[in-house]
Amino acid sequence: KVYRASTTAPVNIAVVKYWGKRDAKLNLPTNSSLSVTLSQADLRTLTTASCSASFSDGDSLMLNGEPSDISGARTQACFRELRARRAALEASNASLPKLSTLPLKIVSENNFPTAAGLASSAAGFAALVQAIANLYELPESPSELSLIARQGSGSACRSLFGGYVAWRMGDKEDGSDSMADLVAPASHWPSMRALILVVSAAKKGVSSTSGMQQTVATSGLFQQRIAQVVPANMDLMEKAIKAKDFAKFAEVTMRDSNSFHACCADTYPPIFYMNDVSRAAIRAVESINAKAGKTIAAYTFDAGPNCVVYYLEEDAPTVLGAFAGVLNGVSGWKDDSSSVKSGAKL
Ligand code: DP6
Repeated sequence: KVYRASTTAPVNIAVVKYWGKRDAKLNLPTNSSLSVTLSQADLRTLTTASCSASFSDGDSLMLNGEPSDISGARTQACFRELRARRAALEASNASLPKLSTLPLKIVSENNFPTAAGLASSAAGFAALVQAIANLYELPESPSELSLIARQGSGSACRSLFGGYVAWRMGDKEDGSDSMADLVAPASHWPSMRALILVVSAAKKGVSSTSGMQQTVATSGLFQQRIAQVVPANMDLMEKAIKAKDFAKFAEVTMRDSNSFHACCADTYPPIFYMNDVSRAAIRAVESINAKAGKTIAAYTFDAGPNCVVYYLEEDAPTVLGAFAGVLNGVSGWKDDSSSVKSGAKL
């Protein structure tokens, strides 16, 4: 007999960035962070988890059609935590099938081209954890599951929800209070849109995991970021989202991205994720806002050169039109597939 469950998890893009670990093994961050979830119509991971005594090769994982290594500490931590929770259920209810001891087979696919160079570890680990939790019929809430997904990849803990999601850093040593919660559902601010400018599909030079360790170890500016900048930005961002104040949301988003990249530049030796095209995208956003006479677009960059622009549906013609004119050969995704097709060229 094969037991099986499937799920999808969305991509999230942080507007207050996670950068820095206080515990690298448990993936405990040096600061809280906040993200906006992209629509699953455009960007998501679909994962099927199955288990059976007949899987004679033991646990296995397929990513976009290729066999993938499961021996990594992060994947192992997720498997172990989920199995322990299933084992506890089985111990308290003898009529449940003993799934916790069976080999797991995980099959995972992204609906966006891997070549787009978009970080997929967040959606990937969130979908892996949710799929196994569904297979095991675990009663845990998304916040409780976020504790497990966090151990796969920090940013993954924010992909178990839709909408606007905060990852509270917590202060306990065992990480039991370092989890995500919902700030507001997507329906709270349904006109929010994200445009992804694929500046380069190449794999990034310095991984997030290693880059943030180098920043923690060497940047003085980073100390100010975690002590003052991020706590203030978290507060301002939550208020802006609750009040649906786009100008404030945009300002904090851009300032926080700039602060994060300034800390990368202050890392020794310095880390540069943005390139000339990234900086052209920043100028384009500035010129869109200057022309509009108010802030209608916000840029943000993760650990790579690709730009995510947030804007409101009512400003779509202005924002998308401006980008079509400014950057050549740029692919864009809108987080609402109803009017612009996923992957449509702008
Ligand atoms: C710049 O979640 O990829 O995207 O916890 O080591 O897996 P690990 O790092 P990861 O880092 C994401 C960094 C970021 C900012 C963010 O998503 O908040």
